[in-house]
Amino acid sequence: MTAILIRGGRLLDPVNNVDALKDVLLDGGRVAAIDAPGKIKSPGAEIIDAKGLVVAPGLVDIHVHLREPGQGYKETIASGTAAAAAGGFTSVCCMPNTTPVNDSPERTRWMLAPERGASIRVFPIAAATRGSMGESLTEYGSLKAAGAVGVTDDGKPILGEAIMREALTAAARANLPVIQHAEDTRLTGGCSMNAGPLAFRMGLRGMTVEAESGLVERDLRLLAQVKDARAHLHVAHLSTKAALDAVRRARRNGLRVTCEVAPHHFVLNEAAVEGYNTNAKMNPPLRAELDRAAMIEGILDGSVDAIATDHAPHAAHEKEQEFERAPNGITGLETALGLTLSVLHVRHRMPLSRVLSLLSAQPAAVLGLKGRGNLAVGSFADVVIFDPAKKWVFKKENSRSKSKNTPFDGWEMQGEVAITISEGRVVYKKQ
Ligand code: DOR
Ligand code: ZN
Repeated sequence: MTAILIRGGRLLDPVNNVDALKDVLLDGGRVAAIDAPGKIKSPGAEIIDAKGLVVAPGLVDIHVHLREPGQGYKETIASGTAAAAAGGFTSVCCMPNTTPVNDSPERTRWMLAPERGASIRVFPIAAATRGSMGESLTEYGSLKAAGAVGVTDDGKPILGEAIMREALTAAARANLPVIQHAEDTRLTGGCSMNAGPLAFRMGLRGMTVEAESGLVERDLRLLAQVKDARAHLHVAHLSTKAALDAVRRARRNGLRVTCEVAPHHFVLNEAAVEGYNTNAKMNPPLRAELDRAAMIEGILDGSVDAIATDHAPHAAHEKEQEFERAPNGITGLETALGLTLSVLHVRHRMPLSRVLSLLSAQPAAVLGLKGRGNLAVGSFADVVIFDPAKKWVFKKENSRSKSKNTPFDGWEMQGEVAITISEGRVVYKKQ
């Protein structure tokens, strides 16, 4: 691997409080040197001219569905990580709702094998219960040893109170977070969108806010009962003000709880499903405007720990069905940065360094991904180089994902990725 010298860019590293013109030398898969422009001499290094561009830690997505093993027609680890690289990501954490479910060290290692063809770093999140059936725990210690960075039954909640308490206790011992898909499915059977007047008008059954916030409150009560300081609950794709308020209260009481919000939940509201648009159907569903605005508020005031895409590819023939039959989920890896910059940075004036932190350093911290999400000398050479001012139009036919189920086709995005580098290798270059 040849060394890479990134010259003349604006280095933006939120963790290390850097926002200045710097040259960055990458060597041996790590950040080897950072200095004022023109200072680093490295004969033989490949030169990348980053003048006018931002150089930042590669983005970290702690919630993606890569669909392998078993559903390679929707996505593969190779295609999903290629899409991630095009979106500026250098680390993705993949969910265990594959076929079969990733509930074993063998399957976790299979996902990490070089034969999968990942172009960036993949961190599997393993099932919290066997087969994600919610009945008996998987083996957290050996899953962690195989490379798992968290446990979850994502797609399904861990409903039973006793098993959730056991999961929180065992995960604390292994120093892993329990990631909960907070949906009380006893209240959401047959529902395909957010509950409210729009669902009523469309003739669809709706998921209530309480189905989310009630389970978050239940989990926080259980978390408080676990007498182990390492016990950590992470709320996946939080979508309602009521659930966010519960997280805020618990944190004030000293509980170790974190949460993520997906771009679609702060960019869109339930109106996007009008016309029975299955490319705007996901779980949790797009919510009322009040909840969308509350997600923005929570991001701006620091209550939200991370932005995560919940990239959930599905094939066209699956989405082209009656609304109630179509599967939940939208792709998100190639639109996350553009949407986040458009809405948080441009519309809500959030400083670029805070936006980047929510997409790199903070998610890395939630799952304890060491050496990711920052560009200190010695950390992994995971870099995104992008033009924050450049506007471009996202076209789904240009997506690197195998699936094109996105509500953002034809949308104007702010901020274009030029180059993505994973552990010192260029894995994406804009044509
Ligand atoms: O929209 C969703 N898609 N929500 C989930 O919980 C699962 C996911 C999927 O796997 O497609
Ligand atoms: Zn998910």
